[in-house]
Amino acid sequence: MAWVIWKGITNNLHKLSELGIDAVWLSPFYRSPQKDAGYDVADYRSVDPLFGDLADFDQLVSKAHQLGIRVMIDLVPNHTSDQHEWFQRALAAGPGSKERSYYHFKPGRGENGELPPNNWQSMFGGPAWTRTEDGEWYVHLFDSSQPDLNWENPLVQAEFEEILRFWLDRGVDGFRVDQPHAMAKADGLPDHPYVEEAGAGFIEGRENPPMWFQDSVHEIFRKWRKILESYPGERAMCGEAYVLPLSFMALWVRPDEFHQTFNFRFLDAGWEKEKLVAAINESFEAFDSVGAPSTWVLNNHDVIRHASRFGGDYGRATASDGIGPANPQPDNELGLIKAKAATLFMLGLPGASYLYQGEELGLPEHTTIEPEYRQDPTFFRTKGQRVGRDGCRVPLPWSLGGKSNGFNDTGKMWLPQPVSYAALSRDQQEKDQASTLNFYKTALALRKRFALGEGSFDWVETGELLSYQNGDVLVVHNFSQEAKELPAGQMLIASSPLTAQGLLATNASAWLVTNRT
Ligand code: NOJ
Repeated sequence: MAWVIWKGITNNLHKLSELGIDAVWLSPFYRSPQKDAGYDVADYRSVDPLFGDLADFDQLVSKAHQLGIRVMIDLVPNHTSDQHEWFQRALAAGPGSKERSYYHFKPGRGENGELPPNNWQSMFGGPAWTRTEDGEWYVHLFDSSQPDLNWENPLVQAEFEEILRFWLDRGVDGFRVDQPHAMAKADGLPDHPYVEEAGAGFIEGRENPPMWFQDSVHEIFRKWRKILESYPGERAMCGEAYVLPLSFMALWVRPDEFHQTFNFRFLDAGWEKEKLVAAINESFEAFDSVGAPSTWVLNNHDVIRHASRFGGDYGRATASDGIGPANPQPDNELGLIKAKAATLFMLGLPGASYLYQGEELGLPEHTTIEPEYRQDPTFFRTKGQRVGRDGCRVPLPWSLGGKSNGFNDTGKMWLPQPVSYAALSRDQQEKDQASTLNFYKTALALRKRFALGEGSFDWVETGELLSYQNGDVLVVHNFSQEAKELPAGQMLIASSPLTAQGLLATNASAWLVTNRT
């Protein structure tokens, strides 16, 4: 079965090449109890039998390289699975042991150590501490099955340097690094000073919480960068560094650290003109200041798919709360119109754009998943109050019909597809010139043709349209409530058909070639 999944990726890589992407990022595929979709790694040098084995991985990489696609893999250094042998050894060895120093074990507070050592909360809800049978507590910023590693320990650092080499030797082009901003903790693990207000997170403009953004972490990435640079070719690291403001995030992409970080500021700006303009301005200012490319992203495996997110009011995307049957349901028709426009506006920007599987099909969020199928620890740790991220993680519809619209032959899937996915199957969209898939393909081909990724950026005054110029291409979006006249130029692509009068519809974006003199 497993085998089928990875063979499935390898056999369909040509579809991604046709889509026009340059690289794939694989979410964690290592041996794992799958308590957090693989972000609970039990062995960093393996492939979970659910997906295949190392030989399948090698084949995937080699086929990708033949097609000119680079392969980035997901490295999860902040925490392991509780099933990892390091943690099992630590539990067995007991308090005060060298084995325990791989993690953060501490005695509890209270008369009999019955209270957690500090007030930290888990990102998935509830306390960030769990007590072991011998009375010590260990910290986990995520699920209790994901104990945090102690990055002060040089042994932990050495283990990961070897893990990096293991995968670089196998030919990977780089790493997406999970939660790098959480790896270093403040000395002594003090209380979070404003946990009441911020819960597990932080508030922009306030003092750094003791579990996020500690300066000592940068030294680790400098070492990693050197390791990457000791390999032939261009190996890269992209950090999932949720660090704000962006001027602070820029520290993470200084020339000797990460190559890129995800732009969560842009993701969280939603689709509101003022916020969007501010996010773009801040991005260029911050990333330019250290000579790093800006990145752009509208979707990932942690947020509500933008075709649904933009069809309702769901707050900050990165809150990762999802949409459940009890929440107001999105207007997916409006959502898709805005989503395509947002994508076109984003793909015109210089820098690196990240797409999430299925957005090229215009897939909506699955908002009515039954509780029995739920997988996200957020759902369980909040007793269903936050349904979490399952709605964007449903297997893709490759071809209409069968038991899973082409995902497999058995119909067995980790999450069920909603009925609406059948008509959105890739094979149906391939045949339809007006499909979302063909829209993405055209946009990506034009982005390459006009080298927009390596281009330039200037806001341009075009009346009521929001516009910027990148090389020969003028990118416009209509935020107003009425259709608007387009500036002069040759139309390359629009996210919605022009009106009968040839105007740019409300919520639409377009690219035009302009004659700049
Ligand atoms: C960020 C990942 O994107 C998310 O899916 C995961 O749950 C957490 N890190 C914990 O590893």
